[in-house]
Amino acid sequence: MGKDVIIACDFASAEETIRFLDKFNKIRSEVVRCDDITVSVSRPFVKIGMELFYSEGPQIVRTLKERGHKVFLDLKLHDIPNTVKKTMQVLGAYGVDMVNVHAGGGIEMMKAAKEGLMLGAARFADKPKLIAVTQLTSTDEATMHNELLIDVPLAEAVRQYALNARAAGLDGVVCSAHEAADIHMACGMDFLTVTPGIRLAGDSAGDQKRVMTPADARDQGADYIVVGRSITGESKPIDAYQRCRSEFIG
Ligand code: C5P
Repeated sequence: MGKDVIIACDFASAEETIRFLDKFNKIRSEVVRCDDITVSVSRPFVKIGMELFYSEGPQIVRTLKERGHKVFLDLKLHDIPNTVKKTMQVLGAYGVDMVNVHAGGGIEMMKAAKEGLMLGAARFADKPKLIAVTQLTSTDEATMHNELLIDVPLAEAVRQYALNARAAGLDGVVCSAHEAADIHMACGMDFLTVTPGIRLAGDSAGDQKRVMTPADARDQGADYIVVGRSITGESKPIDAYQRCRSEFIG
């Protein structure tokens, strides 16, 4: 896998999602070479979050896979190891490309997640990537200190969560682009950093507290950017997507 832009399809229904993604059919099926991978621009890598998955169920994953999209299933599992392992086995069987857990569940839970995912995905040649959420990009240091009573600097907590994820055999983490360079330094350049909290210059941050532009995320060494409202909330989403790609990938 190489650098890519993942569109967060935070829509309420399959119908709305397909209507949105159909707009991309209008772009010429351009295949772009980037590092050692080729990416089809007309079939963007998409993220399915809780809202869409809980309303539509596994069929939405199958539908998007059949339409040629890579799918990051963002359900952020966080439970006892046995439950997470069995659930990951189910998710692995869907043929997802990327899936995640909360690093806050600890190393044993993350190891169980990986075991379950690999069992579920046994029949697929391309194994899904398993990544861990460090701190949500909507959480800032004051929230961490005052509400969660985690009394270390945010960067230190994030680094430790990333090291735990690597120790558990995960492929990378979801983190703020502000932390990507530090995480690569601590965990190695091949440890993936998947970074939400991305805004095109001039867009509103909304509920995100630690935002960055695609160009700055590239400079920080992020491997993937996850972009929701800066693309889905635009009147010209394809232009916004192309802008994210050219800023992030070049
Ligand atoms: O619209 P916006 O670009 O803020 O969407 C960001 C997406 O990334 C949302 O789907 C959100 O759930 C997800 N996400 C995040 N922060 C994390 C993990 C996932 O914003 N740490």
